Amino acid sequence: MSFNKSKEIIEEGDVVILYLKPNNMHSLEVKAKILNKKGEIIDNVFQTVYGALKVFSLVGQRYGSKVELSRGWAYVLQPTPELWTLTLPHRTQIIYSPDISLIIYLMELKPGSIVIETGTGSGSLSHSLIRTIRPSGHLYTFDFHEQRVSLASVEFDKHGLCDYVTVKEKDVCLEGFGEELRHKVDAVFLDLPHPWLAIEHAIVALKKTGGKLCFFSPCIEQVQRTCTKLALEGFVELNTYECLQREVNVHYKSLPVLDLECLKYKHSNEDMAQKNEKERQEEKLLTVTHSHSLPGHTGFITIATLPPNYVRK
Ligand SMILES: C[S@@+](CC[C@H](N)C(=O)[O-])C[C@H]1O[C@@H](n2cnc3c(N)ncnc32)[C@H](O)[C@@H]1O
Repeated sequence: MSFNKSKEIIEEGDVVILYLKPNNMHSLEVKAKILNKKGEIIDNVFQTVYGALKVFSLVGQRYGSKVELSRGWAYVLQPTPELWTLTLPHRTQIIYSPDISLIIYLMELKPGSIVIETGTGSGSLSHSLIRTIRPSGHLYTFDFHEQRVSLASVEFDKHGLCDYVTVKEKDVCLEGFGEELRHKVDAVFLDLPHPWLAIEHAIVALKKTGGKLCFFSPCIEQVQRTCTKLALEGFVELNTYECLQREVNVHYKSLPVLDLECLKYKHSNEDMAQKNEKERQEEKLLTVTHSHSLPGHTGFITIATLPPNYVRK
């Protein structure tokens, strides 16, 4: 129950993040026993590169504290949607935090928003959506894959998030989002191979006062096809973004110091200018350069607005 409120002390049943280093974190459920691959009940001992941890020994420890492993130490952190995204069990491709933050901003989500998401996948985006819209909003998340639906439901339950999310098993392209959501939602988010097939159903679900439709697609052809459909259906303000992180390296570099005297002579006395140029001083300056390579492409994020009182053409 460690996702729904801020806590000081770890309790049995919490999900905690074991932080070894920035690229080595694990989410652990604090319980005494677990099932192994053979289906036997065994002590919950987690192995890391710095040795083993008896997970149940975390009960009573303070969140943020340093804990001993058999050959080193680690920190135990309270989970956030961002840390969950980095440590969750992958059942599908997932959306990562930089894209998630842009999606939430573009859909203008806030506490109280009613949102549809499909497909649920591994629940990476769902956790961030829930944090944004709670306590008065609600997330309806759909997936047609039975096992993904049931695993996501179990996770939301364990994370204490059930009051803010409803998980439904449905092929939204064939069946839509259901009568109970007719003109009830502020925003619809699609992470599907064929987003254009869900647009007519999204129009039925969006409020009569209008709303946002956002979709995430790795390929530009999916974007083109879906945008064509959106424009045809009367959506406006269509924009597609790609969220790329550009690293800036800060370091000292030897650079020539600008000599204003030298510049002065340049026009009047060419010899003097050349002499000064040779004697020009270099100085080590704190500077920045951009990384030569960018992290790879994830997907295109498209946002569209359904205007109020929409009447189908
Ligand atoms: C890429 S995953 C979504 C990942 C998710 N956004 C996350 O961050 O964890 C796409 C999901 O859409 C589901 N899906 C594909 N077509 C669907 C459809 N027509 N109706 C419902 N779910 C669908 C798949 O089963 C899959 O779980």
